[in-house]
Amino acid sequence: MTEHVPVLLSEVLYFLRLHPSLDRVLDCTLGLGGYSGAILGEFPDTRVIGIDRDTDAIAIAKRNLSGYGDRFTPLHGNFEHLGEVAEDFAPFDAILFDLGVSNLQISEGGRGFSFQTEGPLDMRMDPGGCLSAADIVNEFSEKEMTEIFFTYGEERFSRQIARGLVRIREKDGPFSTTTSLVEAIRKILPAPVQRKMGGHPARRVFQALRIRVNEELSALTGGLRKARAAASPGGLIAVVSYHSLEDRIVKHTFRDWQKEDFGKVLTRRPLLPSEEEVEKNYKARSAKLRVFSVEK
Ligand SMILES: C[S@@+](CC[C@H](N)C(=O)[O-])C[C@H]1O[C@@H](n2cnc3c(N)ncnc32)[C@H](O)[C@@H]1O
Repeated sequence: MTEHVPVLLSEVLYFLRLHPSLDRVLDCTLGLGGYSGAILGEFPDTRVIGIDRDTDAIAIAKRNLSGYGDRFTPLHGNFEHLGEVAEDFAPFDAILFDLGVSNLQISEGGRGFSFQTEGPLDMRMDPGGCLSAADIVNEFSEKEMTEIFFTYGEERFSRQIARGLVRIREKDGPFSTTTSLVEAIRKILPAPVQRKMGGHPARRVFQALRIRVNEELSALTGGLRKARAAASPGGLIAVVSYHSLEDRIVKHTFRDWQKEDFGKVLTRRPLLPSEEEVEKNYKARSAKLRVFSVEK
């Protein structure tokens, strides 16, 4: 059975305990229900609404949290539209985002998120989404791919990789699997460059494709804007991010809100996982938590 170990959970719960009467919580990234389950367990009078764009995640969370009856409501949708998706339940005393992908998505080769597992080049979090990773690597121009790898993957060798992919697809036909893309990247980059990259040579390209396929950065910007409108006075908005592009958006948004007197940033610096947490769960290593408290 797939499990997902919730990241920075005790830190998130610490902030929730500061709220005097946590009636309704919106978990914008339900996943397998790790955060939602912990909140339902610790706060017996709290109702949790969980959103996820992944129907498989919703089905598992529903099963995992069925014991909480009508205190838990799962909703399928993109948090970018949380105003409409969770309209009937607003306002919320806490709104949580735990960004990125869950273990379910990474470990299932069939979803195509992992450069370590064979699978179709898909990467859509919402299986009903229209653009897949295969569409990008097979149809986008060298210039468009260079821009995607550079902007969303901060990949130094973006142009070289994009040029090589175009050359290979013209010669051998379209890429259809994660492994064919990984092999192509390994062929394109000279061995000394790969050694210098630190980490897997396809890591940044996979990150970039995932962000572009799921429009993750615009969803985050839109989601935060909607969260601002859906939070109750004195409410908390907490975000766990996993790379600098996301963290930058959260940091600047919270800073702007504070300047506009909408409330206060509670984390002057982001909270990071303890060494102990990273040791137990390597996936937590890049996580950063920022929390904002809305004016009463
Ligand atoms: C890191 S996991 C969340 C794990 C969860 N906190 C737990 O403890 O089980 C992120 C989840 O957010 C979902 N997600 C990412 N972006 C989303 C978006 N824009 N709208 C809705 N769900 C999203 C993903 O499908 C994934 O299931």
